[in-house]
Amino acid sequence: MLFSKASLALIASSILLLLTAHTEAHSYADCIDWRFNSKNKSWADNNGHCAGYARCFPLGAKKFAKLDSDDPNRHYQQSHNDPDKAPLCSNGRSGEESGADETMAKPWTAAYNSKDKHGRKTGTYTVTKVDGTLCIRWPAKNHTVPDENDPSTFNIGISDVNPSKDPSQEYFNKHIIARLDYKNCTKAGSIDTWPCGGCFNISISVKLGHHVLQWRWRLNEKEWHTSCADLDVKA
Ligand SMILES: *[C@@H]1O[C@H](CO)[C@@H](O)[C@H](O)[C@H]1NC(C)=O
Ligand SMILES: *[C@@H]1O[C@H](CO)[C@@H](O)[C@H](O)[C@H]1NC(C)=O
Ligand SMILES: *[C@@H]1O[C@H](CO)[C@@H](O)[C@H](O)[C@H]1NC(C)=O
Ligand SMILES: *[C@@H]1O[C@H](CO)[C@@H](O)[C@H](O)[C@H]1NC(C)=O
Repeated sequence: MLFSKASLALIASSILLLLTAHTEAHSYADCIDWRFNSKNKSWADNNGHCAGYARCFPLGAKKFAKLDSDDPNRHYQQSHNDPDKAPLCSNGRSGEESGADETMAKPWTAAYNSKDKHGRKTGTYTVTKVDGTLCIRWPAKNHTVPDENDPSTFNIGISDVNPSKDPSQEYFNKHIIARLDYKNCTKAGSIDTWPCGGCFNISISVKLGHHVLQWRWRLNEKEWHTSCADLDVKA
């Protein structure tokens, strides 16, 4: 069968649209310090609350799992050329999809308890104990179906104490603190908005003070999405 150039272009753009739709609403950490409120330990809004957020996270801007369509959105997809040499956190410019600027602020606390460019309040940062447990929440959309994604390609890394700027991705790849199950979700409502999350212990070998935390998930070969946050680790 022969296709005209125009119909080939139409087919190509429809495929692109499908791929784009498919890659939305799953590529960021929604909460860095999720606290379960009730005996029902679930990731649903009515069973907990968030006590610490990613950098410059706009509070109440959109419903859970909808910030992919925000301005700027929460997508940072690292460059496919060499994702391990890409900036750790979005700088708002580079990457396959640049997303919101999440580079370390000066001082680092300036990325929190402030206002974004639309005048919306931004979330607070995470304060945790050196022997504490953190529970992180994210939207995974329909990437929770069994045939998608290897869960071992989802991890949390943390920096050394009091870094002056965001360390490199290569550094973080050597400082993974937890490998979480991307598909650990509360199966309530539509699969597109299932809340998912994972918990891990802060190691007692982590020094007291400020640390950078990176949430990093791989969807396809070389397709890494990240979110960045800061931790204040206390005794
Ligand atoms: C996931 O969602 C996308 C966009 O809504 C849809 O095109 C795709 O078919 C869904 N995939 C599965 C496995 O449900
Ligand atoms: C726990 O909460 C989730 C989300 O609201 C709900 O779907 C589930 O049924 C609850 N489980 C129990 C045992 O109440
Ligand atoms: C999976 O989610 C539950 C809450 O539904 C949480 O209690 C548990 O710690 C999570 N599991 C892992 C391995 O993170
Ligand atoms: C954290 O450490 C405690 C005590 O050693 C252990 O019981 C718990 O299972 C650990 N939690 C996680 C999420 O690894």
